[in-house]
Amino acid sequence: MANDRRPENMERITTAALADRFIEEQIAALRQQIGDKKVLLALSGGVDSSVVAALLIKAVGKQLTCVHVNHGLLRKGEPEQVVSVFRDQMKANLVYVDATDRFLDKLAGVADPERKRKIIGAEFIEVFAEEARKLDGVSFLAQGTIWPDILESERGIKAHHNAGGLPEDLNFELVEPVKILFKDEVRMVGKQLGLPDGMVYRQPFPGPGLGVRCTGAITRDRLEAVRESDAVLREEFEKNGLAGKVWQYFTIVPDYKTTGVKDDKRTFEWPVVIRAVNTRDAMTATVENVPFELLQHITARITSEVKGVNRVLFDLTPKPSATIEWE
Ligand code: XMP
Repeated sequence: MANDRRPENMERITTAALADRFIEEQIAALRQQIGDKKVLLALSGGVDSSVVAALLIKAVGKQLTCVHVNHGLLRKGEPEQVVSVFRDQMKANLVYVDATDRFLDKLAGVADPERKRKIIGAEFIEVFAEEARKLDGVSFLAQGTIWPDILESERGIKAHHNAGGLPEDLNFELVEPVKILFKDEVRMVGKQLGLPDGMVYRQPFPGPGLGVRCTGAITRDRLEAVRESDAVLREEFEKNGLAGKVWQYFTIVPDYKTTGVKDDKRTFEWPVVIRAVNTRDAMTATVENVPFELLQHITARITSEVKGVNRVLFDLTPKPSATIEWE
């Protein structure tokens, strides 16, 4: 069995050799814990669950089933990347569920941010539980819990977001192979497990995804504007060396329109807001000083490439007074 708590004297995993040693020890521990039984994992494509998946694939191969729920609020290219990395390259058992319509139908007309979060969280559990019930003889549920999650839930800062809320008939034993690691260590381990950099060095992405960046009641066309503008921003930040430097950057599309002009005609379309912030712990944040020429270039791209958008703004507000997300 793996350690339950991070040993006080544990050396920080900062080198490939230390990561390799951790991987070897975990594979042995996982094999001992799981034996010949089956394991289930909700694979979001985020760093933590991806590293857990890669570890389990190495340890128990096809005894693992990964379920990737696409709630329709993921960034452009994410579901495709999960399928290509885990099903095609790592040969994992991967169940891909496109639940976009279910989520967007439930969210239709719901403008309150906290209600939106609750609906997304509850629906996620519902979809995952349905998939779990379709599988026979699963004994274990793997989770990408990491050490800060445990510390934060102990201190009452954050409800333990992982296991939370699976129905009682799904009575799994937990497998949490990275729960004594800090985030930078999880990334190091992921790199050594051969995960692509785009997955290992991903910026943080909230569970409710683009849903809280399409403010107010979500509509499919405005959600598409969030997804497409986010893709342009990420592409430009990568091209211009900001991707590895800025902590979190994304776009928001508010639920109102402003007047513009295109091809000599009046338009009435949405603005896109760009947010780019740096922080250590997300409790406070400062705004990245993005070069003005780059902002102008991104503005030109977004207004010409993203449907329904005629205006681009840059959010200059640190946290506090603003939060990082817009809702
Ligand atoms: P705020 O907006 O509170 O965000 O300044 C701080 C960090 O938390 C992320 N965030 C979330 N992550 N579920 C998540 O998993 C959420 O509901 C959620 N809301 C905000 C946000 O992206 C930022 O990194």
